[in-house]
Amino acid sequence: MILVTGGAGFIGSNFVLDWMTHETGSVVNLDKLTYAGNMENLAGIKNESRHLFVQGDIGDRALVQRLLAEHRPRAVVNFAAESHVDRSIHVPGEFVQTNVVGTFNLLEEVRAYWDALEGSEKSAFRFLHVSTDEVYGSLGEQDAPFTEMTPYAPNSPYSASKAASDHLVRAYHHTYDLPTLTTNCSNNYGPYQFPEKLIALMILNATRGRPLPIYGDGRNVRDWLYVGDHCAAIRVVLARGKTGEVYNIGGWNEKTNLDVVHTVCTILDEHHHDGVHVPHASLITYVKDRPGHDRRYAIDARKIERELGWKPQESFETGIRKTVRWYLDNMTWVDNVASGNYQNWLTQNYANRAGSKSAAGSAGEATL
Ligand code: NAD
Ligand code: TYD
Repeated sequence: MILVTGGAGFIGSNFVLDWMTHETGSVVNLDKLTYAGNMENLAGIKNESRHLFVQGDIGDRALVQRLLAEHRPRAVVNFAAESHVDRSIHVPGEFVQTNVVGTFNLLEEVRAYWDALEGSEKSAFRFLHVSTDEVYGSLGEQDAPFTEMTPYAPNSPYSASKAASDHLVRAYHHTYDLPTLTTNCSNNYGPYQFPEKLIALMILNATRGRPLPIYGDGRNVRDWLYVGDHCAAIRVVLARGKTGEVYNIGGWNEKTNLDVVHTVCTILDEHHHDGVHVPHASLITYVKDRPGHDRRYAIDARKIERELGWKPQESFETGIRKTVRWYLDNMTWVDNVASGNYQNWLTQNYANRAGSKSAAGSAGEATL
């Protein structure tokens, strides 16, 4: 039995589905079901007796205490977080509440639970905290990728709140000996990603003939990892990671945002060569940049490969094809998440970013 938090979100649900395929143990899945949590992600295991879903907050100490006491997990894997940089610019307080205060409350209850364990139950227990490469800040074009030794320099309310949670996890190991593991991963993409993040948003907009909003000059670089590879890495760290250690996880796939969006458009063109929106790249629209936009992230993932034998199985080319195919095959999922409050988010984030068809802004305004 393991306790997974945030297991109805993008990476958490992929992890739970993956766990059901690769492992024999059970999962208690604690998720608040914010806008980002979606029970449809877990529809494939709705009759699976090894999966127990509990709606609730990682900051609800009484609930966490009860779940730990009742289910006696051998590990807690903490995915629960507010995860979107643009939202953190609009509502930073929610990020502090869940990512910092919520993680603190979770750690306190896990510490009390672990303190009371004995023998092999105690020595086998692990708290795995899932974090991001964004805590390391922004790289220049010529800088070496982030290693586990790179100093923290978070730039957004999101990355600052994740950095704070990482520091708490570190302190709980150092001070209380809590057997923690921390992973810092690069940008993920794949099935079940909420269409507020770049790749999912671009697929959704392109299929509907809507503008593809590129922030700034589109030359910001991210290091993309297929979500299935991230899930495999977490399983490996949980099984063989050394307590108190940090493992960087990345795809060795640095791409500019423009490259990513052009690749998505090309694949969509192949699928719909006679469609009305071909070429989809004609929908690309440059919009006002994100405030404080980090220029480049890149992960040096040699430690996890050297020490634990993990490396990504998907290239960007294979992963992005699978991902586009998944969205095209799951339009009902897309339609369901793209209704309701999602429309309010689009208005809030994109209304004041009047766009143009070229970086120089010469081709006139586009409605987003
Ligand atoms: P997501 O936003 O898709 O999912 C987050 C999940 O957490 C949702 O199901 C939500 O309902 C739940 N949640 C939010 N607040 C909660 C609370 N207080 N209590 C319980 N549940 C709560 O996020 P994601 O993209 O799946 O990211 C998962 C984790 O991985 C996050 O910690 C994130 O920082 C980290 N991460 C994400 C990426 C990425 O590219 N998406 C990369 C590296 C690390
Ligand atoms: P995002 O998916 O939000 O992840 P993160 O900010 O955590 O890296 O964004 C990835 C990149 O894509 C980032 O440089 C911002 C850019 N971006 C756009 O250009 N347009 C968009 O509409 C979005 C959502 C992101």
